[in-house]
Amino acid sequence: MSGLIPQRFVEDLLDRVDLAELIGSRITLKKAGANYKACCPFHDEKTPSFNVRPDKGFYHCFGCGAHGDAISFVREFEGLGFTHAVEELARRAGLEVPYDEAAKHEIQQARTLTDALDFASRFYQSALNGQQGSFARDYLKQRGLDDSIIKQYQVGYAPATGTALFDVASKELQGPLIETGTVSDKYGRPRDLFRNRVMFPIRNSRGKTIAFGGRTLGDDKAKYINSPESDVFHKSREIYGLFEAKQALKQLDKLLVVEGYMDVIALAQNGIHYAVATLGTATNQDSLTALLRQVRHIVFCFDGDQAGFRAADKAMENALELMADGLHLQFLMLPEGEDPDTLVRKEGPDAFQKRIDGATPFSRYLFDRQSEGLDLQLPENRGELRARTEPLLNKMPRSTLRDAMWHEMLRLCGGRSQWQGRKPQQQGNWKGERRDRVTEERIDVKLSKDSILCLALLEAPDLATEVTELARSSRQFNQAMTFAGFILERKIRDRKSLITTLAMDSQARERFYNLFDGIEHIPTRESTLAAARELLSPNEEATRQQKLATLLRNFANLTADERQELRELSGGTPESST
Ligand code: UTP
Ligand code: MN
Repeated sequence: MSGLIPQRFVEDLLDRVDLAELIGSRITLKKAGANYKACCPFHDEKTPSFNVRPDKGFYHCFGCGAHGDAISFVREFEGLGFTHAVEELARRAGLEVPYDEAAKHEIQQARTLTDALDFASRFYQSALNGQQGSFARDYLKQRGLDDSIIKQYQVGYAPATGTALFDVASKELQGPLIETGTVSDKYGRPRDLFRNRVMFPIRNSRGKTIAFGGRTLGDDKAKYINSPESDVFHKSREIYGLFEAKQALKQLDKLLVVEGYMDVIALAQNGIHYAVATLGTATNQDSLTALLRQVRHIVFCFDGDQAGFRAADKAMENALELMADGLHLQFLMLPEGEDPDTLVRKEGPDAFQKRIDGATPFSRYLFDRQSEGLDLQLPENRGELRARTEPLLNKMPRSTLRDAMWHEMLRLCGGRSQWQGRKPQQQGNWKGERRDRVTEERIDVKLSKDSILCLALLEAPDLATEVTELARSSRQFNQAMTFAGFILERKIRDRKSLITTLAMDSQARERFYNLFDGIEHIPTRESTLAAARELLSPNEEATRQQKLATLLRNFANLTADERQELRELSGGTPESST
Protein backbone atom coordinates (compact mmCIF):
# COMPACT_ATOMS: atom_id res chain seq x y z
CA MET A 1 0.00 0.00 0.00
CA SER A 2 3.08 2.20 0.23
CA GLY A 3 2.62 3.58 -3.26
CA LEU A 4 -0.69 5.01 -2.28
CA ILE A 5 0.57 7.68 0.04
CA PRO A 6 1.77 10.60 -2.09
CA GLN A 7 5.56 10.71 -2.18
CA ARG A 8 5.46 14.45 -1.60
CA PHE A 9 3.67 13.96 1.69
CA VAL A 10 6.26 11.44 2.82
CA GLU A 11 9.10 13.83 2.01
CA ASP A 12 7.31 16.68 3.74
CA LEU A 13 6.78 14.57 6.77
CA LEU A 14 10.43 13.55 6.93
CA ASP A 15 11.41 17.20 6.69
CA ARG A 16 9.25 18.05 9.64
CA VAL A 17 10.29 15.24 11.93
CA ASP A 18 12.93 16.15 14.44
CA LEU A 19 14.90 12.90 14.35
CA ALA A 20 16.69 13.58 17.62
CA GLU A 21 13.42 14.25 19.34
CA LEU A 22 11.77 11.18 17.82
CA ILE A 23 14.57 8.80 18.71
CA GLY A 24 15.20 10.60 21.99
CA SER A 25 11.64 9.84 23.04
CA ARG A 26 12.46 6.13 22.83
CA ILE A 27 16.07 5.83 23.94
CA THR A 28 18.51 8.01 25.83
CA LEU A 29 20.56 10.19 23.49
CA LYS A 30 23.76 12.04 24.35
CA LYS A 31 24.72 15.14 22.45
CA ALA A 32 28.04 14.96 20.63
CA GLY A 33 28.61 18.12 18.64
CA ALA A 34 25.89 18.51 16.04
CA ASN A 35 25.06 14.83 16.41
CA TYR A 36 23.79 12.49 19.07
CA LYS A 37 25.07 9.19 20.33
CA ALA A 38 23.43 6.28 22.08
CA CYS A 39 23.74 2.61 22.74
CA CYS A 40 22.20 0.98 19.71
CA PRO A 41 18.58 -0.11 20.24
CA PHE A 42 18.95 -2.75 17.53
CA HIS A 43 21.77 -4.76 19.03
CA ASP A 44 23.27 -5.33 22.46
CA GLU A 45 26.15 -3.08 23.36
CA LYS A 46 27.69 -1.30 26.29
CA THR A 47 29.47 1.53 24.52
CA PRO A 48 27.51 3.79 22.19
CA SER A 49 28.08 3.24 18.47
CA PHE A 50 24.64 4.42 17.40
CA ASN A 51 24.80 7.88 15.81
CA VAL A 52 21.92 10.21 15.08
CA ARG A 53 22.39 13.05 12.60
CA PRO A 54 19.32 15.27 12.82
CA ASP A 55 20.61 17.70 10.18
CA LYS A 56 20.93 14.90 7.64
CA GLY A 57 17.84 13.10 8.85
CA PHE A 58 19.38 9.71 9.39
CA TYR A 59 20.86 7.42 11.99
CA HIS A 60 23.64 4.92 11.67
CA CYS A 61 25.09 2.24 13.92
CA PHE A 62 28.77 1.46 13.51
CA GLY A 63 28.29 -1.70 15.49
CA CYS A 64 25.57 -3.52 13.60
CA GLY A 65 25.10 -1.40 10.47
CA ALA A 66 21.52 -0.40 11.32
CA HIS A 67 20.82 2.65 9.21
CA GLY A 68 17.87 4.70 8.08
CA ASP A 69 15.52 7.62 8.43
CA ALA A 70 12.62 8.43 10.75
CA ILE A 71 10.29 6.04 8.96
CA SER A 72 12.66 3.10 9.10
CA PHE A 73 13.38 3.84 12.76
CA VAL A 74 9.70 3.66 13.66
CA ARG A 75 9.27 0.54 11.51
CA GLU A 76 12.16 -1.27 13.13
CA PHE A 77 11.63 -0.03 16.65
CA GLU A 78 7.88 -0.55 16.75
CA GLY A 79 7.71 -3.43 14.30
CA LEU A 80 5.29 -1.54 12.07
CA GLY A 81 4.71 -1.69 8.33
CA PHE A 82 5.39 1.32 6.14
CA THR A 83 1.85 2.68 6.15
CA HIS A 84 1.52 2.40 9.90
CA ALA A 85 4.89 3.98 10.48
CA VAL A 86 3.88 6.94 8.32
CA GLU A 87 0.58 7.18 10.18
CA GLU A 88 2.41 7.19 13.51
CA LEU A 89 4.80 9.94 12.40
CA ALA A 90 1.95 11.97 10.94
CA ARG A 91 0.05 11.67 14.20
CA ARG A 92 3.08 13.01 16.09
CA ALA A 93 3.38 15.89 13.67
CA GLY A 94 -0.35 16.65 13.86
CA LEU A 95 -0.89 15.84 10.20
CA GLU A 96 -3.44 13.69 8.46
CA VAL A 97 -2.19 11.16 5.90
CA PRO A 98 -3.74 12.25 2.59
CA TYR A 99 -4.73 8.85 1.24
CA ASP A 100 -6.01 9.26 -2.26
CA GLU A 101 -9.36 7.79 -3.24
CA ALA A 102 -7.80 4.58 -4.48
CA ALA A 103 -6.01 4.09 -1.17
CA LYS A 104 -9.13 4.75 0.86
CA HIS A 105 -10.92 2.24 -1.27
CA GLU A 106 -8.17 -0.29 -0.74
CA ILE A 107 -8.18 0.15 3.01
CA GLN A 108 -11.94 -0.22 3.06
CA GLN A 109 -11.58 -3.28 0.88
CA ALA A 110 -8.99 -4.81 3.21
CA ARG A 111 -11.38 -4.29 6.05
CA THR A 112 -14.13 -6.12 4.25
CA LEU A 113 -11.74 -8.95 3.34
CA THR A 114 -10.67 -9.51 6.93
CA ASP A 115 -14.25 -9.02 8.10
CA ALA A 116 -15.34 -11.77 5.73
CA LEU A 117 -12.51 -14.01 6.94
CA ASP A 118 -13.41 -13.30 10.56
CA PHE A 119 -16.94 -14.27 9.70
CA ALA A 120 -15.76 -17.52 8.13
CA SER A 121 -13.66 -18.22 11.20
CA ARG A 122 -16.63 -17.78 13.50
CA PHE A 123 -18.64 -20.03 11.26
CA TYR A 124 -15.99 -22.79 11.39
CA GLN A 125 -15.78 -22.50 15.17
CA SER A 126 -19.49 -22.86 15.61
CA ALA A 127 -19.51 -25.78 13.18
CA LEU A 128 -16.91 -27.49 15.37
CA ASN A 129 -19.17 -27.09 18.37
CA GLY A 130 -22.28 -28.19 16.49
CA GLN A 131 -23.63 -31.60 15.62
CA GLN A 132 -21.62 -32.02 12.43
CA GLY A 133 -18.40 -31.23 14.29
CA SER A 134 -18.50 -34.19 16.67
CA PHE A 135 -16.01 -36.27 14.68
CA ALA A 136 -13.62 -33.31 14.46
CA ARG A 137 -13.99 -32.68 18.21
CA ASP A 138 -13.07 -36.28 18.95
CA TYR A 139 -10.15 -36.04 16.57
CA LEU A 140 -8.77 -32.96 18.32
CA LYS A 141 -9.29 -34.52 21.73
CA GLN A 142 -7.47 -37.64 20.58
CA ARG A 143 -4.60 -35.35 19.49
CA GLY A 144 -4.42 -34.03 23.01
CA LEU A 145 -6.03 -30.60 22.66
CA ASP A 146 -8.45 -29.33 25.26
CA ASP A 147 -11.24 -26.80 24.88
CA SER A 148 -9.37 -23.79 26.16
CA ILE A 149 -6.48 -24.21 23.73
CA ILE A 150 -8.94 -24.85 20.87
CA LYS A 151 -10.62 -21.61 21.79
CA GLN A 152 -7.40 -19.69 22.13
CA TYR A 153 -6.31 -20.68 18.63
CA GLN A 154 -9.88 -20.44 17.32
CA VAL A 155 -9.64 -23.90 15.80
CA GLY A 156 -12.73 -24.76 13.77
CA TYR A 157 -14.29 -27.26 11.45
CA ALA A 158 -15.27 -26.86 7.80
CA PRO A 159 -18.29 -29.08 7.09
CA ALA A 160 -18.12 -31.65 4.32
CA THR A 161 -20.99 -30.29 2.27
CA GLY A 162 -19.75 -28.26 -0.67
CA THR A 163 -21.22 -24.84 0.09
CA ALA A 164 -21.86 -24.71 3.84
CA LEU A 165 -19.94 -21.48 4.30
CA PHE A 166 -21.14 -19.80 1.15
CA ASP A 167 -24.76 -20.59 2.01
CA VAL A 168 -24.66 -18.77 5.35
CA ALA A 169 -22.72 -15.72 4.08
CA SER A 170 -24.63 -12.50 3.46
CA LYS A 171 -24.58 -10.96 -0.01
CA GLU A 172 -21.87 -8.46 1.02
CA LEU A 173 -19.62 -11.17 2.34
CA GLN A 174 -19.88 -13.49 -0.65
CA GLY A 175 -17.69 -11.32 -2.87
CA PRO A 176 -14.87 -10.97 -0.31
CA LEU A 177 -15.03 -14.70 0.48
CA ILE A 178 -14.48 -15.43 -3.19
CA GLU A 179 -11.77 -12.80 -3.45
CA THR A 180 -9.81 -14.36 -0.59
CA GLY A 181 -10.19 -17.81 -2.12
CA THR A 182 -12.15 -19.09 0.88
CA VAL A 183 -14.90 -19.83 -1.58
CA SER A 184 -13.94 -20.83 -5.09
CA ASP A 185 -15.94 -19.92 -8.15
CA LYS A 186 -13.72 -21.77 -10.57
CA TYR A 187 -16.39 -24.31 -11.44
CA GLY A 188 -18.97 -21.86 -12.64
CA ARG A 189 -20.71 -21.95 -9.29
CA PRO A 190 -19.47 -21.18 -5.80
CA ARG A 191 -17.88 -23.98 -3.83
CA ASP A 192 -16.18 -23.84 -0.41
CA LEU A 193 -12.42 -24.33 -0.64
CA PHE A 194 -12.24 -26.15 2.71
CA ARG A 195 -14.43 -29.22 3.10
CA ASN A 196 -14.35 -31.70 5.95
CA ARG A 197 -11.24 -30.17 7.43
CA VAL A 198 -10.01 -28.98 10.79
CA MET A 199 -9.53 -25.26 10.36
CA PHE A 200 -6.65 -23.14 11.63
CA PRO A 201 -7.26 -19.42 11.19
CA ILE A 202 -4.14 -17.34 10.53
CA ARG A 203 -4.37 -13.99 12.25
CA ASN A 204 -2.42 -10.81 11.76
CA SER A 205 -0.85 -8.72 14.51
CA ARG A 206 -4.18 -7.10 15.28
CA GLY A 207 -5.97 -10.42 15.59
CA LYS A 208 -7.89 -10.16 12.31
CA THR A 209 -8.18 -13.35 10.29
CA ILE A 210 -6.23 -13.12 7.06
CA ALA A 211 -6.19 -16.73 5.84
CA PHE A 212 -6.74 -20.36 6.84
CA GLY A 213 -4.95 -23.64 6.93
CA GLY A 214 -7.14 -26.72 6.87
CA ARG A 215 -6.24 -30.33 7.73
CA THR A 216 -8.21 -33.09 6.16
CA LEU A 217 -10.22 -35.48 8.30
CA GLY A 218 -10.72 -37.86 5.42
CA ASP A 219 -8.28 -39.48 3.03
CA ASP A 220 -7.93 -36.43 0.88
CA LYS A 221 -4.64 -36.43 -1.03
CA ALA A 222 -3.71 -32.98 0.24
CA LYS A 223 -3.24 -33.36 3.98
CA TYR A 224 -3.23 -29.61 4.41
CA ILE A 225 -4.50 -26.87 2.18
CA ASN A 226 -3.97 -23.18 2.71
CA SER A 227 -5.73 -20.06 1.52
CA PRO A 228 -4.17 -18.60 -1.62
CA GLU A 229 -2.35 -15.30 -1.38
CA SER A 230 -4.62 -12.28 -1.41
CA ASP A 231 -4.48 -8.57 -0.69
CA VAL A 232 -4.49 -9.37 3.01
CA PHE A 233 -2.39 -12.53 2.96
CA HIS A 234 1.26 -12.49 1.94
CA LYS A 235 2.63 -15.87 2.90
CA SER A 236 6.24 -14.97 3.36
CA ARG A 237 5.48 -12.16 5.78
CA GLU A 238 3.00 -13.84 8.08
CA ILE A 239 3.78 -15.85 11.16
CA TYR A 240 1.26 -18.38 12.38
CA GLY A 241 0.72 -18.27 16.11
CA LEU A 242 2.36 -14.93 16.75
CA PHE A 243 -0.83 -13.16 17.74
CA GLU A 244 -1.71 -16.01 20.09
CA ALA A 245 1.78 -16.08 21.59
CA LYS A 246 1.62 -12.36 22.31
CA GLN A 247 -1.77 -12.81 23.91
CA ALA A 248 -0.55 -15.59 26.15
CA LEU A 249 2.71 -14.00 27.25
CA LYS A 250 3.29 -10.63 28.82
CA GLN A 251 6.64 -10.34 27.15
CA LEU A 252 7.92 -12.21 24.16
CA ASP A 253 11.65 -12.88 24.64
CA LYS A 254 12.15 -15.61 22.12
CA LEU A 255 10.34 -17.54 19.45
CA LEU A 256 10.49 -21.22 18.70
CA VAL A 257 9.94 -21.69 14.99
CA VAL A 258 8.32 -25.01 14.08
CA GLU A 259 6.87 -26.43 10.90
CA GLY A 260 3.20 -27.08 11.34
CA TYR A 261 0.01 -25.68 12.77
CA MET A 262 -0.43 -28.73 14.97
CA ASP A 263 3.08 -28.34 16.34
CA VAL A 264 2.37 -24.78 17.43
CA ILE A 265 -0.85 -25.74 19.14
CA ALA A 266 0.46 -28.92 20.75
CA LEU A 267 3.34 -26.95 22.26
CA ALA A 268 0.95 -24.28 23.58
CA GLN A 269 -1.15 -27.09 25.04
CA ASN A 270 2.00 -28.17 26.87
CA GLY A 271 2.77 -24.76 28.25
CA ILE A 272 5.23 -23.65 25.57
CA HIS A 273 3.44 -20.58 24.29
CA TYR A 274 6.11 -18.99 22.16
CA ALA A 275 6.04 -21.47 19.28
CA VAL A 276 5.15 -20.13 15.85
CA ALA A 277 5.23 -21.42 12.29
CA THR A 278 6.21 -19.51 9.20
CA LEU A 279 4.01 -20.03 6.19
CA GLY A 280 5.42 -21.10 2.87
CA THR A 281 9.15 -21.81 2.85
CA ALA A 282 10.05 -21.58 6.47
CA THR A 283 13.33 -19.82 6.29
CA ASN A 284 13.50 -17.29 3.49
CA GLN A 285 14.78 -13.84 4.28
CA ASP A 286 11.35 -12.24 4.40
CA SER A 287 10.22 -14.66 7.07
CA LEU A 288 13.45 -14.24 8.93
CA THR A 289 13.15 -10.47 8.87
CA ALA A 290 9.56 -10.72 10.05
CA LEU A 291 10.68 -12.92 12.94
CA LEU A 292 13.53 -10.59 13.85
CA ARG A 293 11.14 -7.66 14.05
CA GLN A 294 9.59 -9.45 16.97
CA VAL A 295 12.48 -10.83 18.97
CA ARG A 296 16.28 -11.08 19.02
CA HIS A 297 16.31 -14.70 20.07
CA ILE A 298 15.02 -17.38 17.74
CA VAL A 299 15.19 -21.15 18.09
CA PHE A 300 14.60 -22.98 14.81
CA CYS A 301 13.20 -26.44 15.18
CA PHE A 302 13.74 -29.02 12.46
CA ASP A 303 13.32 -32.71 11.86
CA GLY A 304 16.58 -34.54 12.32
CA ASP A 305 16.35 -36.12 8.86
CA GLN A 306 18.24 -35.03 5.75
CA ALA A 307 15.51 -32.64 4.62
CA GLY A 308 15.51 -31.11 8.08
CA PHE A 309 19.24 -30.44 7.96
CA ARG A 310 18.92 -28.97 4.49
CA ALA A 311 16.22 -26.62 5.77
CA ALA A 312 18.39 -25.68 8.74
CA ASP A 313 21.30 -24.95 6.38
CA LYS A 314 19.05 -22.63 4.41
CA ALA A 315 18.03 -20.85 7.58
CA MET A 316 21.67 -20.49 8.60
CA GLU A 317 22.69 -19.13 5.20
CA ASN A 318 19.81 -16.68 5.07
CA ALA A 319 20.62 -15.48 8.55
CA LEU A 320 24.27 -14.66 7.81
CA GLU A 321 23.66 -11.20 6.42
CA LEU A 322 21.38 -10.38 9.30
CA MET A 323 23.62 -11.62 12.07
CA ALA A 324 24.54 -8.77 14.36
CA ASP A 325 25.79 -8.72 17.92
CA GLY A 326 22.97 -9.29 20.34
CA LEU A 327 21.15 -11.57 17.97
CA HIS A 328 20.79 -15.08 19.24
CA LEU A 329 19.88 -17.90 16.85
CA GLN A 330 19.76 -21.55 17.75
CA PHE A 331 19.00 -24.79 15.98
CA LEU A 332 17.06 -27.60 17.52
CA MET A 333 17.27 -30.82 15.54
CA LEU A 334 14.70 -33.39 16.64
CA PRO A 335 15.17 -37.16 16.54
CA GLU A 336 14.29 -38.58 13.13
CA GLY A 337 10.64 -39.30 12.60
CA GLU A 338 9.45 -36.98 15.35
CA ASP A 339 7.88 -33.58 15.16
CA PRO A 340 7.34 -31.22 18.10
CA ASP A 341 3.74 -32.38 18.40
CA THR A 342 4.56 -36.08 18.74
CA LEU A 343 7.63 -35.45 20.85
CA VAL A 344 6.18 -33.08 23.41
CA ARG A 345 3.27 -35.45 23.93
CA LYS A 346 5.60 -38.42 24.23
CA GLU A 347 8.20 -36.97 26.60
CA GLY A 348 6.34 -34.09 28.25
CA PRO A 349 6.92 -30.33 28.46
CA ASP A 350 9.94 -30.42 30.78
CA ALA A 351 11.98 -32.72 28.60
CA PHE A 352 11.06 -30.69 25.53
CA GLN A 353 11.93 -27.48 27.30
CA LYS A 354 15.35 -28.98 28.04
CA ARG A 355 15.83 -29.62 24.36
CA ILE A 356 15.01 -25.98 23.60
CA ASP A 357 17.44 -24.76 26.24
CA GLY A 358 20.17 -27.00 24.87
CA ALA A 359 19.65 -26.09 21.23
CA THR A 360 22.81 -25.60 19.14
CA PRO A 361 23.97 -21.97 18.83
CA PHE A 362 24.30 -20.50 15.34
CA SER A 363 28.10 -20.46 15.32
CA ARG A 364 28.42 -24.07 16.46
CA TYR A 365 25.83 -25.23 13.96
CA LEU A 366 27.77 -23.56 11.18
CA PHE A 367 31.11 -25.09 12.08
CA ASP A 368 29.70 -28.53 12.92
CA ARG A 369 27.85 -28.67 9.65
CA GLN A 370 30.71 -27.40 7.52
CA SER A 371 33.23 -29.77 9.04
CA GLU A 372 30.94 -32.77 8.71
CA GLY A 373 32.77 -35.65 7.04
CA LEU A 374 36.13 -33.87 7.31
CA ASP A 375 38.91 -35.37 9.38
CA LEU A 376 40.63 -32.20 10.50
CA GLN A 377 43.85 -34.06 11.32
CA LEU A 378 44.44 -33.98 7.59
CA PRO A 379 45.74 -30.60 6.34
CA GLU A 380 43.83 -30.91 3.06
CA ASN A 381 40.60 -31.15 5.00
CA ARG A 382 41.44 -28.06 6.98
CA GLY A 383 41.86 -26.21 3.70
CA GLU A 384 38.52 -27.55 2.62
CA LEU A 385 36.90 -26.39 5.83
CA ARG A 386 38.31 -22.93 5.35
CA ALA A 387 37.16 -22.83 1.73
CA ARG A 388 33.67 -23.73 2.88
CA THR A 389 33.39 -21.37 5.82
CA GLU A 390 35.23 -18.28 4.69
CA PRO A 391 32.61 -17.22 2.12
CA LEU A 392 29.92 -17.72 4.73
CA LEU A 393 31.64 -15.58 7.34
CA ASN A 394 32.32 -12.92 4.75
CA LYS A 395 28.58 -12.45 4.37
CA MET A 396 28.23 -11.41 7.98
CA PRO A 397 28.30 -7.73 8.90
CA ARG A 398 31.21 -6.57 11.01
CA SER A 399 30.60 -7.58 14.59
CA THR A 400 32.24 -9.19 17.56
CA LEU A 401 30.44 -12.39 16.68
CA ARG A 402 31.95 -12.35 13.24
CA ASP A 403 35.44 -11.72 14.54
CA ALA A 404 35.05 -14.48 17.07
CA MET A 405 33.80 -16.88 14.40
CA TRP A 406 36.66 -15.91 12.15
CA HIS A 407 39.07 -16.90 14.86
CA GLU A 408 37.22 -20.08 15.50
CA MET A 409 37.62 -20.93 11.83
CA LEU A 410 41.37 -20.26 12.02
CA ARG A 411 41.63 -22.29 15.16
CA LEU A 412 39.87 -25.25 13.55
CA CYS A 413 42.01 -24.90 10.44
CA GLY A 414 45.14 -24.62 12.57
CA GLY A 415 45.93 -21.56 10.51
CA ARG A 416 47.25 -18.19 11.45
CA SER A 417 45.21 -15.10 11.74
CA GLN A 418 45.68 -12.79 8.82
CA TRP A 419 42.74 -10.55 9.52
CA GLN A 420 42.09 -10.31 5.83
CA GLY A 421 38.59 -11.63 6.18
CA ARG A 422 37.67 -8.61 8.22
CA LYS A 423 36.55 -6.61 5.22
CA PRO A 424 34.56 -3.64 6.41
CA GLN A 425 30.89 -4.10 5.75
CA GLN A 426 29.26 -2.19 2.91
CA GLN A 427 27.70 0.76 4.62
CA GLY A 428 24.77 1.44 2.30
CA ASN A 429 24.59 5.09 1.33
CA TRP A 430 26.22 6.21 4.53
CA LYS A 431 28.62 8.99 3.68
CA GLY A 432 30.15 9.82 7.03
CA GLU A 433 33.47 11.64 7.09
CA ARG A 434 35.24 8.82 8.79
CA ARG A 435 34.74 6.45 5.92
CA ASP A 436 35.78 8.98 3.29
CA ARG A 437 39.01 9.68 5.10
CA VAL A 438 39.74 5.99 5.36
CA THR A 439 39.12 5.46 1.67
CA GLU A 440 41.63 8.12 0.79
CA GLU A 441 44.26 6.57 3.00
CA ARG A 442 43.72 3.26 1.27
CA ILE A 443 45.55 4.28 -1.85
CA ASP A 444 48.10 1.53 -1.89
CA VAL A 445 50.75 3.16 0.25
CA LYS A 446 53.42 1.12 1.95
CA LEU A 447 52.69 0.43 5.55
CA SER A 448 54.04 2.97 7.96
CA LYS A 449 56.53 1.74 10.54
CA ASP A 450 53.98 2.56 13.18
CA SER A 451 51.44 0.27 11.51
CA ILE A 452 54.00 -2.50 11.17
CA LEU A 453 54.64 -2.36 14.88
CA CYS A 454 50.91 -2.42 15.60
CA LEU A 455 50.48 -5.46 13.40
CA ALA A 456 53.44 -7.15 15.03
CA LEU A 457 51.90 -6.54 18.44
CA LEU A 458 48.79 -8.21 17.25
CA GLU A 459 50.81 -11.22 16.14
CA ALA A 460 53.07 -11.28 19.18
CA PRO A 461 51.79 -9.21 22.11
CA ASP A 462 54.92 -10.16 24.07
CA LEU A 463 56.79 -7.57 22.01
CA ALA A 464 54.94 -4.84 23.94
CA THR A 465 57.82 -3.96 26.28
CA GLU A 466 60.31 -3.69 23.45
CA VAL A 467 57.94 -1.61 21.36
CA THR A 468 57.34 0.75 24.25
CA GLU A 469 61.08 1.21 24.78
CA LEU A 470 61.69 1.85 21.11
CA ALA A 471 58.83 4.35 20.92
CA ARG A 472 60.09 6.17 24.00
CA SER A 473 63.69 6.41 22.91
CA SER A 474 62.89 7.39 19.33
CA ARG A 475 59.94 9.63 20.21
CA GLN A 476 58.03 8.02 17.35
CA PHE A 477 55.36 5.40 16.81
CA ASN A 478 52.54 6.87 18.87
CA GLN A 479 49.94 4.36 17.82
CA ALA A 480 52.10 1.35 18.51
CA MET A 481 52.95 2.85 21.88
CA THR A 482 49.25 3.22 22.72
CA PHE A 483 48.54 -0.31 21.65
CA ALA A 484 51.54 -1.67 23.53
CA GLY A 485 50.46 0.32 26.58
CA PHE A 486 47.09 -1.31 26.43
CA ILE A 487 48.64 -4.78 26.18
CA LEU A 488 50.95 -4.15 29.14
CA GLU A 489 48.23 -2.59 31.21
CA ARG A 490 46.00 -5.63 30.72
CA LYS A 491 48.95 -7.98 31.26
CA ILE A 492 48.27 -9.70 27.98
CA ARG A 493 51.00 -12.19 27.07
CA ASP A 494 49.76 -14.06 24.05
CA ARG A 495 47.71 -13.67 20.94
CA LYS A 496 44.85 -15.65 22.23
CA SER A 497 44.25 -13.53 25.28
CA LEU A 498 44.66 -10.39 23.20
CA ILE A 499 41.96 -11.58 20.82
CA THR A 500 39.70 -12.58 23.68
CA THR A 501 40.22 -9.26 25.42
CA LEU A 502 39.38 -7.37 22.27
CA ALA A 503 36.38 -9.54 21.62
CA MET A 504 34.98 -8.74 25.03
CA ASP A 505 35.91 -5.11 25.37
CA SER A 506 34.14 -3.06 22.74
CA GLN A 507 35.82 0.17 23.75
CA ALA A 508 39.24 -1.32 23.30
CA ARG A 509 38.09 -2.92 20.09
CA GLU A 510 37.05 0.45 18.69
CA ARG A 511 40.50 1.80 19.42
CA PHE A 512 42.05 -1.30 17.94
CA TYR A 513 39.98 -1.12 14.76
CA ASN A 514 40.99 2.49 14.29
CA LEU A 515 44.64 1.53 14.42
CA PHE A 516 44.18 -0.74 11.46
CA ASP A 517 41.63 1.24 9.57
CA GLY A 518 43.85 2.43 6.77
CA ILE A 519 45.50 -0.88 6.03
CA GLU A 520 44.34 -2.69 2.95
CA HIS A 521 46.76 -5.57 2.50
CA ILE A 522 47.90 -7.22 5.62
CA PRO A 523 51.25 -8.95 5.29
CA THR A 524 51.83 -12.46 6.53
CA ARG A 525 52.77 -13.09 10.11
CA GLU A 526 56.32 -13.93 9.04
CA SER A 527 56.99 -10.75 7.14
CA THR A 528 55.28 -8.62 9.77
CA LEU A 529 57.50 -10.04 12.49
CA ALA A 530 60.60 -9.78 10.34
CA ALA A 531 59.86 -6.13 9.57
CA ALA A 532 59.20 -5.42 13.22
CA ARG A 533 62.42 -7.12 14.26
CA GLU A 534 64.25 -4.94 11.85
CA LEU A 535 62.84 -1.90 13.61
CA LEU A 536 63.30 -3.22 17.10
CA SER A 537 66.82 -4.57 16.81
CA PRO A 538 68.38 -3.53 13.51
CA ASN A 539 71.76 -5.24 14.22
CA GLU A 540 70.30 -8.54 15.15
CA GLU A 541 68.20 -8.40 12.07
CA ALA A 542 71.19 -7.70 9.85
CA THR A 543 72.96 -10.75 11.28
CA ARG A 544 69.87 -12.81 10.69
CA GLN A 545 69.64 -11.70 7.09
CA GLN A 546 73.30 -12.56 6.55
CA LYS A 547 72.95 -16.03 8.04
CA LEU A 548 69.86 -16.59 6.03
CA ALA A 549 71.59 -15.60 2.84
CA THR A 550 74.51 -17.97 3.54
CA LEU A 551 72.23 -20.87 4.32
CA LEU A 552 70.18 -20.26 1.21
CA ARG A 553 73.29 -20.18 -0.96
CA ASN A 554 74.27 -23.63 0.34
CA PHE A 555 70.73 -24.88 0.27
CA ALA A 556 71.55 -28.10 -1.56
CA ASN A 557 74.18 -29.22 0.99
CA LEU A 558 72.65 -28.32 4.34
CA THR A 559 72.90 -30.63 7.34
CA ALA A 560 69.77 -31.45 9.30
CA ASP A 561 70.72 -28.90 11.96
CA GLU A 562 71.29 -26.22 9.37
CA ARG A 563 67.97 -26.99 7.77
CA GLN A 564 66.34 -26.53 11.14
CA GLU A 565 68.15 -23.23 11.60
CA LEU A 566 66.98 -22.09 8.20
CA ARG A 567 63.42 -22.96 9.08
CA GLU A 568 63.68 -20.98 12.28
CA LEU A 569 65.32 -17.99 10.67
CA SER A 570 62.80 -17.74 7.88
CA GLY A 571 59.76 -18.83 9.83
CA GLY A 572 59.85 -16.28 12.62
CA THR A 573 59.36 -17.20 16.23
CA PRO A 574 57.49 -20.44 16.79
CA GLU A 575 53.84 -19.68 17.36
CA SER A 576 52.78 -19.65 20.96
CA SER A 577 50.03 -22.12 21.72
CA THR A 578 47.06 -20.42 20.11
P1 UTP B 1 3.42 -32.16 7.99
O1 UTP B 1 3.06 -33.07 6.87
O2 UTP B 1 4.68 -32.39 8.74
O3 UTP B 1 2.16 -32.20 8.91
O4 UTP B 1 3.38 -30.69 7.44
P2 UTP B 1 2.02 -32.06 10.48
O5 UTP B 1 2.11 -30.63 10.88
O6 UTP B 1 2.87 -33.04 11.18
O7 UTP B 1 0.51 -32.44 10.54
P3 UTP B 1 -0.19 -33.57 11.33
O8 UTP B 1 0.57 -33.72 12.59
O9 UTP B 1 -0.14 -34.79 10.47
O10 UTP B 1 -1.57 -33.04 11.47
C1 UTP B 1 3.86 -29.59 8.16
C2 UTP B 1 3.25 -28.34 7.63
O11 UTP B 1 3.45 -28.25 6.23
C3 UTP B 1 2.34 -27.68 5.59
C4 UTP B 1 1.35 -27.33 6.68
O12 UTP B 1 1.57 -25.98 7.06
C5 UTP B 1 1.74 -28.27 7.79
O13 UTP B 1 1.36 -27.80 9.05
N1 UTP B 1 1.69 -28.64 4.65
C6 UTP B 1 1.85 -29.97 4.82
C7 UTP B 1 0.94 -28.16 3.62
O14 UTP B 1 0.79 -26.95 3.45
N2 UTP B 1 0.34 -29.04 2.77
C8 UTP B 1 0.46 -30.39 2.92
O15 UTP B 1 -0.13 -31.17 2.12
C9 UTP B 1 1.24 -30.87 3.97
MN1 MN C 1 2.62 -33.82 12.97
